[in-house]
Amino acid sequence: MDRHFLTELKKRRTFGIISHPDAGKTTLTEKLLMFGGAIQMAGAVKAKRAGRYATSDWMAIEKERGISVTTSVMKFNYSDCEINLLDTPGHQDFSEDTYRVLTAVDSALMVIDSAKGVEPQTEKLMEVCRMRNTPIMTFINKLDRDGMTPLDILGDIEDKLQIECAPLSWPIGMGKRFRGVYNLHQRQLHLFQPGGQTRHQEGIVITDLADPRLEELLGSQAEELREDVELLEGAANPFELDQYLKGSQTPVFFGSAINNFGVREMLDAFVEMAPGPMARPTTTRVVAPEEAQFSGFAFKIQANMDPAHRDRIAFVRICSGKFTRGMKVYQTRIGKQVTLANATIFMAQDRSHVDEAYPGDIIGIHNHGTISIGDTFYEKEPLSFTGIPNFAPDHFRRVRLKNPLKAKQLLKGLTQLAEEGAVQFFRPLSGNDYILGAVGILQFDVTMARLKAEYGVDADYEPVSFAAARWVTCEDKKQLALFEKEKQASLANDSQGNLTYLAPSLWRLENAMEEWPMIGFHKTRDLA
Ligand code: G4P
Repeated sequence: MDRHFLTELKKRRTFGIISHPDAGKTTLTEKLLMFGGAIQMAGAVKAKRAGRYATSDWMAIEKERGISVTTSVMKFNYSDCEINLLDTPGHQDFSEDTYRVLTAVDSALMVIDSAKGVEPQTEKLMEVCRMRNTPIMTFINKLDRDGMTPLDILGDIEDKLQIECAPLSWPIGMGKRFRGVYNLHQRQLHLFQPGGQTRHQEGIVITDLADPRLEELLGSQAEELREDVELLEGAANPFELDQYLKGSQTPVFFGSAINNFGVREMLDAFVEMAPGPMARPTTTRVVAPEEAQFSGFAFKIQANMDPAHRDRIAFVRICSGKFTRGMKVYQTRIGKQVTLANATIFMAQDRSHVDEAYPGDIIGIHNHGTISIGDTFYEKEPLSFTGIPNFAPDHFRRVRLKNPLKAKQLLKGLTQLAEEGAVQFFRPLSGNDYILGAVGILQFDVTMARLKAEYGVDADYEPVSFAAARWVTCEDKKQLALFEKEKQASLANDSQGNLTYLAPSLWRLENAMEEWPMIGFHKTRDLA
């Protein structure tokens, strides 16, 4: 490939933020965008805090989808890098979408509230990162408040997330006694000033901690810092780039997002250390980003900006080659050639048409329901990227159709919503029911509202006694047939015809797994 292509490639950093609601993801995003010059003032990142909205509010937000689309991918420049920050929906009910967004990143940033330590949503997201050994950088937030001791937080991360921590900065006090951080890597002291909104906070270089200037600057806390650093030198893991890139160690920074403190240091480390576009597996081989042929996959669909036209935007992550406007590519699932004429690239506040884009970039492709999550696009050699998961739902409802004459529309609506990843549905082998499955219960209300608004289907739902779903596979056809016969009443096909076991209780699921060791029970299923 030509030099220009390689230069563009090297500049790309594509990442997502993982955190539990309220840890400070939105605040941090805002500060990162400010450093990138993509926004001018705080408060500009909208469509946020979905966690605090009731369903009706969420629907209202969705009506303004223009906003949520633009915030789904935020592109900004910093220090010669082109950074794509992929937003992960804040509401935990939509974590399935979040999971899939993580398949399109090359690294992640984990935000942890210093008072709360590792919280459940972070643990779940971390599981997804671990599936792909995604490199993770950690930001411990809210040091301006009293919280757990830094060592306890690191211990909590190591215990709960099974990842080694390598602190690159160290806090001096916390809460009212928070004085700043000492950058262990650059041996610089950064003093804390509340409310700092400026982009420049130069550190004070103190290479030798015995330096008496430390007393002048920190008073009695100077000695505490010395003791901490001495302790760390003996006990903490030294940072190793290759361990971070392998996903087995996380470099840790401390700060306060709201005060814009510690953020720039982390961003500087991020552009230096975080990986650029990585190679990705397909069903046939691993595709390297430097390859000349264009390839990419759809990881998210945003539907119906204009309900009358069933307009959808598919978010496609470019994996190799260069995208040029109007190029002709093949779409794996349908095996047809399509023209990518109408692609959009996402800036923080804006959407603009793209003429070219490179691996790591995300392009939005308008379509009318022809693109599904997991679809691969390629130029010549047929490829199909793997690892874009569907997660077994935790919640189930049975659909009640109010007007039986609308059965066809119901099937069409549910099929499209499933392709989009908005909800999953299952058809029990015995009977004509539609069983909806979701990772979060808010998805059910949104599904009903969208069936009505977009497909003219008046339906509601009722409880149904399923506790878990597992996709079922077995190499041995005879065993599978026996299993099907015995478990007929608990088996269903998903929207793509994959056999699924709907367990009435977790206990029954465990039982079935013990009883049928030859059968594979899968919690996730690759869409691609
Ligand atoms: P999220 O996207 O992860 O859900 O978190 P978000 O940024 O919305 O932050 C959650 C709350 O934590 C917000 O307060 C925010 O102001 C606060 N916060 C973020 N970073 C810091 C920090 O460094 N220190 C302190 N003390 N607070 C921080 P809120 O009161 O819920 O919202 P708001 O009224 O301030 O907007």
